[in-house]
Amino acid sequence: MTPDEQKRMAAARALEYVEDGMKLGLGTGSTAAHFVDLLGERVAAGLNVLCVPTSEATHAQATGLNIPLTTLDETPALDLTIDGADELDAALNLVKGGGGALLREKIVATASSRMVVIADGSKVVETLGAFDLPVEVVPFGAGATVNQMREIAAGLGCNGEINRRKTADGKPFFTDGGHYIYDCAFGVIPDPVALAAALNMIAGVVETGLFCGIATLAVIAGPDGAKIMEPA
Ligand code: A5P
Repeated sequence: MTPDEQKRMAAARALEYVEDGMKLGLGTGSTAAHFVDLLGERVAAGLNVLCVPTSEATHAQATGLNIPLTTLDETPALDLTIDGADELDAALNLVKGGGGALLREKIVATASSRMVVIADGSKVVETLGAFDLPVEVVPFGAGATVNQMREIAAGLGCNGEINRRKTADGKPFFTDGGHYIYDCAFGVIPDPVALAAALNMIAGVVETGLFCGIATLAVIAGPDGAKIMEPA
């Protein structure tokens, strides 16, 4: 089974958590895109849901599939968000933001009663940090912000290069909110909760890709099928 087939399997299994009448958050990325596809099929067959997308890309995909959409202004409390992750540990702490949508993803996930993560088995790690941690930063004063990030992270055992993200064709990357993303190559993040809290104290940091204590369950697909993980 290819990693993409595993992603689709996790997405299909997560559909079991969707009930008629639910208000859903729709994640971003290749795994979440499988979920949106499959949800579109269920909506076409008569399922009644109302959804908030976490990015312009997911908004476009859901619109194309005629999935009814709303906003958190109209519908501030959601039942369930389903989203992918770049890494997750046994406590279901996540690294997210590989697709640059971490801010809207976190706003939507924390407005939901539950968050179900969908991923292939390669995303499960013992210690977060092998995937470069994305941090969303305000363009004004970004150089000073990054210096503060470097210093604070080092105090928590996180060292490594911090680079501004570019697009695949080498152009500067901007989030849907018009901010920069810096990818932090820490290698290991010994205390994700402390690092998230410390980085969020820096004035120029909008949000980090560390999602701690937010996910309620994960559906992890591998060669032997889809397995459920709950926070350890
Ligand atoms: C988007 O910003 C991310 O948080 C994604 O959820 C994450 O990068 C996982 O993406 P894939 O499902 O494409 O691996």
